[in-house]
Amino acid sequence: MSGQQTPGPRILVTGGNSGIGRALCRQLAVEDGCHVLLGSRDAARGRAAVESIRRELGANRPGSVELVVVDVAREDSVVSAVKAVGSPVYALVNNAGTGLAHGASPEQVIDTNLYGVRRMVEAFTGQGLVSSRIVNVGSGSGPGYVSRCPLPLQATLSKTPADWQAIEELLAPAADGRSGFGSAADHNGGYGISKALLSLYTLLIARDHPRLMVSCCSPGWIRTDIVGHHGPSKGPEEGTPAIKHCLFGELEGSGWYYGSDALRSPYHFMRNPGEPEWDGVVDGVVGIP
Ligand SMILES: NC(=O)c1ccc[n+]([C@@H]2O[C@H](COP(=O)([O-])OP(=O)(O)OC[C@H]3O[C@@H](n4cnc5c(N)ncnc54)[C@H](OP(=O)(O)O)[C@@H]3O)[C@@H](O)[C@H]2O)c1
Repeated sequence: MSGQQTPGPRILVTGGNSGIGRALCRQLAVEDGCHVLLGSRDAARGRAAVESIRRELGANRPGSVELVVVDVAREDSVVSAVKAVGSPVYALVNNAGTGLAHGASPEQVIDTNLYGVRRMVEAFTGQGLVSSRIVNVGSGSGPGYVSRCPLPLQATLSKTPADWQAIEELLAPAADGRSGFGSAADHNGGYGISKALLSLYTLLIARDHPRLMVSCCSPGWIRTDIVGHHGPSKGPEEGTPAIKHCLFGELEGSGWYYGSDALRSPYHFMRNPGEPEWDGVVDGVVGIP
């Protein structure tokens, strides 16, 4: 192929300097010919990732990659990223996340994994800078968390919330460790609830942005910094199929949550790859969303 070809869709990936995000940026640019905006909160780490992908691209592939410095935990950084991106992207992938082996506090985990995604979505959709899709990188820890909640809350945590305030109200009891919802809070230091509420927020974005296709997905159990590189046998390059399905697949519904095998999955228990696809029903009663 010639280096003169026009790059494919522009896609912004947060946390693109490391792990799954970096593998995704590499695949999108090198294998799929996309114009990748590689988000990184640290400019030097971002530049290193961009340069390594550019080396692979060489002169003969149609894809391209450039750095966008963005710390999703900082409003001013997100505003700067909006200015840097300038014109609409085909898709925004909210991949940046923290918790587990990163050693972040529960507050930082929720601020990054939930509020950070909201900052990005509000800022970019507010300026009309997403034309087609939003993909939120969730986790099986989300449904795992919900499955440990009392039953009525499991239903609440499986359907479209009224508004953002309703999501914050679900967060409050867990934050101060009260009984009930809080009792399920998280031996994972805020990680499970952050990802459970990210799935819920995905339903809300889908409702409020009917022209966009919005999804949340689990990348699977992948050997990266966030898990301390212990345990999982799969490397970062194997953490992208569900994200790419959400980016390019013919999806039946907006707001849905997908497992790492790219099949629709429930909010209230963890469905493993190989198990039947979820039909969107909770306890035979509640249709989702
Ligand atoms: N690995 C798994 O098994 C697994 C399973 C389920 C879900 N996930 C999710 O997959 C996503 C990617 O994680 P990973 O496994 O690839 O781990 P990782 O290699 O540790 O990558 C995390 C990325 O998020 C970035 N990040 C953290 N806080 C940020 C902030 N405030 N602003 C911007 N970027 C920030 C990190 O940047 P720095 O390099 O600057 O720290 C890094 O680029 C996360 O959302 C994670 O929750 C992973």
